[in-house]
Amino acid sequence: MLSWDDYHQEESPLPSSAVIGQESGHPPASLAQTAAPVLLPPTAPVYEPVTPPARDPLQPVSTAPNPVISDPAPTAEVDIGAERVRVEDKAMINCRADLNQLVPFKYDWAWQKYLDGCANHWMPQEINMTADVATWKSADALTEDERRIIMRSLGYFSTADSLVANNLVLAIYRLITNPECRQYLLRQAFEEAIHTHAYQYCIESLGMDEGEVFNMYREVPSVAQKAAWSLAHTSKLNDPAFTTGTPESDQELLRNLIGFYAVTEGIFFYCGFTQILSMGRRNKMTGVAEQFQYILRDESMHLNFGIDVINQIKLENPGLWTEQFQREAIDMILEGTQLEVEYARDTMPRGVLGMNAAMMEQYLQYIANRRLSQLGLPEQFRGVENPFPWMSEIMDLRKEKNFFETRVIEYQTGGALSWD
Ligand SMILES: [Fe+2]
Ligand SMILES: [Fe+2]
Repeated sequence: MLSWDDYHQEESPLPSSAVIGQESGHPPASLAQTAAPVLLPPTAPVYEPVTPPARDPLQPVSTAPNPVISDPAPTAEVDIGAERVRVEDKAMINCRADLNQLVPFKYDWAWQKYLDGCANHWMPQEINMTADVATWKSADALTEDERRIIMRSLGYFSTADSLVANNLVLAIYRLITNPECRQYLLRQAFEEAIHTHAYQYCIESLGMDEGEVFNMYREVPSVAQKAAWSLAHTSKLNDPAFTTGTPESDQELLRNLIGFYAVTEGIFFYCGFTQILSMGRRNKMTGVAEQFQYILRDESMHLNFGIDVINQIKLENPGLWTEQFQREAIDMILEGTQLEVEYARDTMPRGVLGMNAAMMEQYLQYIANRRLSQLGLPEQFRGVENPFPWMSEIMDLRKEKNFFETRVIEYQTGGALSWD
């Protein structure tokens, strides 16, 4: 348990700690006696409060761009006296309004997804893995084909979520110039960390060779191909010198968003999810399946958020969505589908768990059609039906808010601090 001593620093016993104590209603005795009224170190500059220039209410509101420029560059200085943020100045990309101010909201859906994500919080350790350990260690509880599916799934996902998280924080975060969307991106980034944690937790609980599993994306071709495809769609944006602001660079950002949200999270995850959840439905490896179920619920929201962002960028920048670019987007979805079909064939050389590679191919075509129509593109696989309707029931996107209705979990928060 943390104690106050963990936070006490001799050199600067200053204000943040004192404020924490006051807010919690338990000021530590030592600070109550010694806290000086000075809230800033003596060398800190003192800023005079500045009142923004009053606007004549009889004059029409200026339509000129808001002069408050928050350059994505972290070194931008505070523009003292600048006008307040107006909702009409906010934009998904290339925005010039101050990015340090969350409100006024322009995209209520983004804020709602942030709230929904927080309401669905979970941690991998909450799930009991005891039965899975016994099943995994048993000589005959699983077939070789079932073992192969578990190994491949953990092999792909244990690094895939790191690829997604790295893309979020190193590539797209600074290019999405909207605070409420960034708030969701931060929540998503943490969820990706939880997902990687969940896979690590499964691997450790089952006593697998972690080097073999985590390095699978560099050893097994069907896994490596998917990872390589995702990496190829983040490399340009990973360059710190990359910026948006031209049609070409804005389209590059769109390629990244389609590549990660619609393909990586929207197609590459679906064969593995379906296989593991099918295993859980057969009462095998139910702990791993439950972990995957919570992850799938999170991923459904990531996917929907990404689709909304892409469609909003299209709406605000219709010139980017050219016929040629639409053809390119369709090709990306088709390429991703083909890689996932190859992964299905590799992981299911025979029928297993009531499914086979041909059924999975049909399911992936159904999923691809959904991704295409979500992006406003024509479906490419005519008349394909969902061969696994139970998957829709498990992840039913419309139930995002109520997923945990039957679970009551108390999270340990600031109450763990001891002020003695
Ligand atoms: Fe994830
Ligand atoms: Fe995700």
